[in-house]
Amino acid sequence: MPDAITIPAPADFHVHLRHLKMAHLVVPHVRKGGFSLAYVMPNLNPPITTTAMALDYKAQLQAIDPSVDYLMTLYLSPDLTPDEIVKAKQAGIAGVKSYPRGVTTNSDGGIESYEMYFPVFEAMQRVDMVLNLHGEIPSDPATASNFLHFVVFSDIGTEHLPFPRLRIVLEHATTRAAVEAVKACGPTVACTITAHHLALTVDDWAGQSFHFCKPVAKYPDDREALRQVIREGHPRFFLGSDSAPHPIEAKSTSTPTHGCAAGVYTSPVLLPLTAHLLESFGALDKLEGFASTFGRRFYQRELQAGQSQPVVLQRTKELVAEKYEAEGADVVPFWAGKPLDWQIVS
Ligand code: NCD
Ligand code: ZN
Repeated sequence: MPDAITIPAPADFHVHLRHLKMAHLVVPHVRKGGFSLAYVMPNLNPPITTTAMALDYKAQLQAIDPSVDYLMTLYLSPDLTPDEIVKAKQAGIAGVKSYPRGVTTNSDGGIESYEMYFPVFEAMQRVDMVLNLHGEIPSDPATASNFLHFVVFSDIGTEHLPFPRLRIVLEHATTRAAVEAVKACGPTVACTITAHHLALTVDDWAGQSFHFCKPVAKYPDDREALRQVIREGHPRFFLGSDSAPHPIEAKSTSTPTHGCAAGVYTSPVLLPLTAHLLESFGALDKLEGFASTFGRRFYQRELQAGQSQPVVLQRTKELVAEKYEAEGADVVPFWAGKPLDWQIVS
């Protein structure tokens, strides 16, 4: 059992950094949690749909913490054109995120059918931009089957997309079926896994709103498939925290017409938490691949010589903060008040 671990420049390939007061509270937590690269989700209100909006948002994030490398994304919507994709690529925007309509926070403008986007996908393939898929579809009231369902490629038809070179990431896999579907794909398809889905199952979020996120955590066998693919050190599965802060009030109160907000907040403890969880299922030796190398390789952001910005973790029993607050914003982190076995020392 090591007492210290060094990880070169950890990278979080799926994070929600919000804007305004919440951004001021949560953006510094990327670095606090051990990360120097943040792949930033575009589901603001209004969503980030153009290059100009993404660059403006990036400047806001840099003004809060200039030490993080922010990789920006656009929100797939009818506003997005092939010309805009070319412009986005030239401006350094890394990907396009597709949300099915209505499944999660700020997804009312999400997509219903992929075919109308084929010209956009063709442009993305040509300029080599990544397509990020939120792999859920809205529940069908007739069967209510999607509450514990997480669609895989066959469900949304991506296997039939005529874009063999388009790089695709299935975001936040939660089921054995999703893991198997990604494994069966070729080198252009990868998959993010969150830290919290390595810990939670259905029983943990039913009745515990701070553990409620989309997609919801599934059954123990699904969690085991996520853990196993990390133990295997599979290079197309890597960390994307889906850290998604919501004000305490939005998480802790619901009304007859409004449920609580979906999202689990892991940013401020992300690397220690990931180390803690990986060690709990015998995969601590895979931390470097899972939290740094594999995602960087897929996104072509590999570290150059002399660039490694290592983060050092040491053993501890420190408790995670109960909450974080600042002027006009507050949030409860995952694992609040509980001990983690690792802390960042430098
Ligand atoms: C995310 C959010 O709050 O922005 N919520 C979540 O439960 N994951 C949206 C998302 O990524 O689905
Ligand atoms: Zn997300």
